[in-house]
Amino acid sequence: MNNFVYDIPTRVYFGENQLGNLGAELSKYGKKVLMTYGGGSIKKIGLYDKIVEEIQKAGLELFELSGIDPNPRVASVNAGADICKKEDIDVLLAVGGGSVLDCTKYIGAATYYDGDAWDILLQKVPVDNCLPVITVLTLAATGSEMDAGGVISNPETKDKIGLVFPVMQPKVSFLDPTTTYTVNKFHTACGAADMLNHILEVYFNMDQDLYMLDCVMEGLMKTIIKYAPVALEEPDNYEARANLMWTSTWAINGFVNGGKRQAWSCHPMEHELSAIYDITHGLGLAILTPRWMEYTLNETTVSKFYQFGTNVFGIDKNLAPMEVAKKSIEMISDFLFSTLGLQSTFTEIGIDETNFEIMAKKACMDSVLPGFKPLNQQDIVNIFKMCL
Ligand code: NZQ
Ligand code: ZN
Repeated sequence: MNNFVYDIPTRVYFGENQLGNLGAELSKYGKKVLMTYGGGSIKKIGLYDKIVEEIQKAGLELFELSGIDPNPRVASVNAGADICKKEDIDVLLAVGGGSVLDCTKYIGAATYYDGDAWDILLQKVPVDNCLPVITVLTLAATGSEMDAGGVISNPETKDKIGLVFPVMQPKVSFLDPTTTYTVNKFHTACGAADMLNHILEVYFNMDQDLYMLDCVMEGLMKTIIKYAPVALEEPDNYEARANLMWTSTWAINGFVNGGKRQAWSCHPMEHELSAIYDITHGLGLAILTPRWMEYTLNETTVSKFYQFGTNVFGIDKNLAPMEVAKKSIEMISDFLFSTLGLQSTFTEIGIDETNFEIMAKKACMDSVLPGFKPLNQQDIVNIFKMCL
């Protein structure tokens, strides 16, 4: 087993009616709060009013930044950082899905930098400081509520870059499954595909020495496979939404890595897709996942697929390993495209070969993606072609 440090300093308030703790948590950091949110879903679901009430009760001063887009833009980061500098904000309150949370983390970091926030994404400046970030999550998918990462898009350069800075780790996150009842079928399905892929990116490696973490990951994947269809059919099923919410958090909060983390494969490929075509992250991953699995399956890797197929999908252990492996890929495709109802090809979502070479070059940074099976530019183009 490899050495690792386990440290996830985010306090979580999980479940209904926990917002009564919000004022006290915000107050620990000062008086001036910048609340950030997206296109207005939090107003439609009544969450905005509840939060404003808590902030007023605590006697805090409220500032707002709205309109953060899905695949959040660097312009929103700059706009938020400007408010923080001008108003001397003490604490950030991100209310929404992964896009709002990610953007808010960078607002916190960019507040300590005088130039364009894009310089942070280009790693031209160190990130040693960040305003404290508190989150109220409304969509189960990215795990941004309990990780130190964030992904920002720059439409001018057609880049989408994700980085991790420990100082951006949220201090507190409020996870109330009832706030996700209004997430529509498409985004519920995309969220399930995203969290599933977060686990697969770690699970598919050839280290055999962390049996315990493999079992945890198999349990998390089975949870998604069990409950995502329930949430699609019954959007206000508390048990389903709660299981999905907590699974999304644990899929990417560092626990399952256990020292065996290696470079991810599908995510760098997908980020290039959403950078150019502005598609929903989970949809891009859904289309890529089974093709990546098919491409990486060979005599060396088949044992991992066998483990996955038998333990997660319950495929007959007596079948030949290669047969189990192929069946497991069919079953995951079936889950993503039939059960979740997501589109299954690039063609269906208007993506053709035009940008394959440039996207592949950027995804592997002109070198090799050193994941489960190392992928060079040509490999990535081959996988993109399988998605057409
Ligand atoms: O903008 P609003 O009005 O809030 O609407 C949003 C948005 O249109 C809506 N929504 C959110 N909660 C809702 C709701 N609608 C109704 N009821 C609710 N309760 O859903 C739409 C999508 O929201 P978004 O935040 O974009 O989705 P998601 O949480 O999937 O975030 C995606 C972003 O996170 C990045 C992705 O690349 C993408 O930019 N990721 C961040 C990661 C991280 N921080 O660790 C890891 C991930 O792999 C991912 O890359
Ligand atoms: Zn993801």
